[in-house]
Amino acid sequence: MKMRAAVLERFGEPLAVQEVELAEPRAGEVLVRLHACGVCHTDLYTASGADPSGYAPTVLGHEGAGVVEAVGPEVGSLAPGDHVVTLFSPQCRECIHCLDERTNLCLAIREEQNKGHLPDGTTRISRDGEEIRSFMGCSTFAEYTVMPEIALAKVSPEAPFEHACLFACGLSTGLGAAINTAAVQPGSTCAVFGAGMVGLGAVAGCRLQGAERIFCADLSPQRLELARGQGATDLLEGGEGAVERILEMTGGFGADYTFEATGNVAVMRQAVEAARMAWGLCTVAGVAGRGETLDVVPRLLITGRRIAGSSFGGVKGRDQVPVLVDRYLAGEIDLDPFVSHRISLEEVNRGFELMEAQDGIRSVIEL
Ligand SMILES: NC(=O)c1ccc[n+]([C@@H]2O[C@H](COP(=O)([O-])OP(=O)(O)OC[C@H]3O[C@@H](n4cnc5c(N)ncnc54)[C@H](O)[C@@H]3O)[C@@H](O)[C@H]2O)c1
Ligand SMILES: [Zn+2]
Ligand SMILES: [Zn+2]
Repeated sequence: MKMRAAVLERFGEPLAVQEVELAEPRAGEVLVRLHACGVCHTDLYTASGADPSGYAPTVLGHEGAGVVEAVGPEVGSLAPGDHVVTLFSPQCRECIHCLDERTNLCLAIREEQNKGHLPDGTTRISRDGEEIRSFMGCSTFAEYTVMPEIALAKVSPEAPFEHACLFACGLSTGLGAAINTAAVQPGSTCAVFGAGMVGLGAVAGCRLQGAERIFCADLSPQRLELARGQGATDLLEGGEGAVERILEMTGGFGADYTFEATGNVAVMRQAVEAARMAWGLCTVAGVAGRGETLDVVPRLLITGRRIAGSSFGGVKGRDQVPVLVDRYLAGEIDLDPFVSHRISLEEVNRGFELMEAQDGIRSVIEL
């Protein structure tokens, strides 16, 4: 079938919205009619050419929500009409990682996904016979996508698509960092560095876990106000001095749980330093540039601080994204402030511009 999609032709150039060919779903695959897709830094990072593992041509986008249109052979868990959220982090429910509750890093399709292929090593998108690769296994800047069944979470049909798509990436990452990775205990003190989609999700996650105090540090006053709306109790200007202020406000000890959501290694260090001696846990969710290293004084660890990394918030996508969506539908999370712009697929490059200007949290493409 033919569909419209935003193609990255060459790094550093605007995406070109055009008609491409999409093949039928094969075994274990599902055809999804997409209705909404968030525009994320990771899309821009690849489009810019800064990501050394990037490839082109490809259809970008990985924060999709839509409705199953058709299923290929051997698909058992999804049927036409089901509402789904796309998962760049799949859950096969069979590999040794999926069977272990300590991790969400499914091993099933990693290698082919990293190459821009579906699990069988090919792609479904093409143009005049030329293969167009599948970005993060998703390629959701498009009217339709074909994805593996194991990379789709079936969610409540009551969730509006523009909110459901937020769970595909940063929001679940932040929520999960607090709920799964850190498993914040009720009554504790938390500190979140960064108030983008991930940091705001972490603030909300700390609140849902019953944290008593939630510090949030960011450079932008507007974003700090959004953090207050998600439950932050103390707002701090990021940068030099943020650690000292957190220590001051916690009797010199630091926070029980800290979260880094900026991708900046200097801020990661601050998040470690702001964690409480004896049991403070620092969860790193930001993605640093390739080759960058984290500089930490080892004595901070000997005296009881710990550091954990968190990919997609430790969320096992098919099991947990539907639960998070239900909590949102039950009124536990306010998502309205996160959707700042609604744009058409044709305006996708404007979505990148808005993001670079830090105008709002998410531009959502309506498809
Ligand atoms: N672990 C995962 O699975 C996963 C998933 C999605 C995104 N990420 C990563 O998480 C990070 C955050 O993503 P996002 O979408 O929220 O990004 P974002 O750019 O929207 O937010 C980052 C925030 O950090 C703030 N900031 C910058 N420097 C700061 C400082 N010195 N102190 C305090 N705040 C500072 C910025 O003002 C901004 O509000 C990125 O590195 C992204 O790649 C990780
Ligand atoms: Zn994303
Ligand atoms: Zn698996």
